[in-house]
Amino acid sequence: PVLKEAVDPIISWYRENKRDLPWRHDVSAYHVWISEIMLQQTRVEAVKPYYERFLKELPTVEDLAEVQEDKLLKLWEGLGYYNRVKNMQKAAQQIMMDYHGEFPHTYEEIRSLKGIGNYTAGAVSSFVYGLAKAAVDGNVLRVVSRLTASRDDIMKAGVRTRIEAEVEEVIPPDAASDFNQGLIELGAIVCLPGGKPKCGECPVSYLCRARLLGVEKELPVRTKP
Ligand code: ADE
Repeated sequence: PVLKEAVDPIISWYRENKRDLPWRHDVSAYHVWISEIMLQQTRVEAVKPYYERFLKELPTVEDLAEVQEDKLLKLWEGLGYYNRVKNMQKAAQQIMMDYHGEFPHTYEEIRSLKGIGNYTAGAVSSFVYGLAKAAVDGNVLRVVSRLTASRDDIMKAGVRTRIEAEVEEVIPPDAASDFNQGLIELGAIVCLPGGKPKCGECPVSYLCRARLLGVEKELPVRTKP
């Protein structure tokens, strides 16, 4: 049970090494949601100024629900994938209509909002509400594939579903946020893609099956784009 053994070291490592990022300051569902949607398409350093400006202009769900589309698109200009911000406005309108402007607190309700998939629903429900739900993005797929030396193709939906279930099984109910964010952070700054994993800085390199086998640079396996 490599993953289970990795839980405590990852949490401790995250608590001592996490980066100071704007969306980790004033944690709310609205803040985490916006940051995670922006981060799906763009590097952390590039997101920072967009994130700050977006929240300054649209500080609440209600502001996002009501803003004129041309102003909304200007706030997103340069990030690309404009459907994402259009979906965010639809979700904000859903939150106004169905939840009186207060972000829903359950995974299923969050998951049913426009444009919110498993990853974003898991991120909001665990980072903000402490729910023991997985938040598996590309970072986490890489970390888990390497820890377990899995050669399964991470582009396959079934493989992602299995990894989500494996992660969810080991989430400590009292530290869901730090564990999920620790997995993401490990993938973002240590367990880097391609031939660049920094195993010397990894708190769980001693458990890592890929490293043990010398195949960490070959994983994860991904086929179709
Ligand atoms: N990449 C995706 N989500 C992230 C987050 N919450 N923190 C840092 N990097 C991320």
